Amino acid sequence: MKVIVVKDYNEMSNVATDIMYDVISNKPDCVLGLATGSTPEGLYANLVALYREGKLDFSKVSSVNLDEYYPLAPENDQSYRYFMNTHLFDHVNIDKANTYVPNGLAQDPEAACKAHEDKIDELGGMDIQVLGIGQNGHIGFNEPSDNPIPFTHMENLTESTIKANARFFESEADVPTRALTMGIQSIMKARKIIILASGKSKAAAIKATLKDEPTPRCPASLLYSHPDVTVICDEDAYSLC
Ligand code: PGA
Repeated sequence: MKVIVVKDYNEMSNVATDIMYDVISNKPDCVLGLATGSTPEGLYANLVALYREGKLDFSKVSSVNLDEYYPLAPENDQSYRYFMNTHLFDHVNIDKANTYVPNGLAQDPEAACKAHEDKIDELGGMDIQVLGIGQNGHIGFNEPSDNPIPFTHMENLTESTIKANARFFESEADVPTRALTMGIQSIMKARKIIILASGKSKAAAIKATLKDEPTPRCPASLLYSHPDVTVICDEDAYSLC
């Protein structure tokens, strides 16, 4: 994995923006693999700014998202569909019909997972996948496990993830305990992967990803075998390496 260590969150967002800018400019009909959470907010704000300056065109772009809480309606302001609309899609000229977030209200979640995986394949895989990283090393909602499920599936969230995400909800009890998520092998379908990390709370996960033996107990470390992964982290996130 390539590693870029930067000073702070803003620099992390700027480096990620430059990489995304190149992908979208060089291939106007590219497929973006997108992530939610606090980490990519700066990146999305930068992309919106570039669009407003006339420097980026999303009209032919498609996107697939990593994950979605289950069960949660897309209109719920904690859903990842809502996040993507409000942080990116509503502000650029992407055709929302070409944006795919797993269906958090699917009657048949297994079928919804298969449909998401099929969509990734139909689109020919992602040109770039953006990832944050959980404090426990999760990517998407692939939690530490001895037997990771390779493709899009339902995942039970760990206590650490529920606690970490409670800040977005009124209380911890409101955080859904399950999610639909791409698997590690779904993520590996991307031709290029960037992992973004900022802050001391991510330092242990970044160390486990970059310095320790790859293990499904730290899902991000399993990306070691992918040929084009760049970890962009700030000094705090890199501080245990
Ligand atoms: P965060 O979440 O960006 O909100 O820190 C990252 C993750 O859990 O994957």
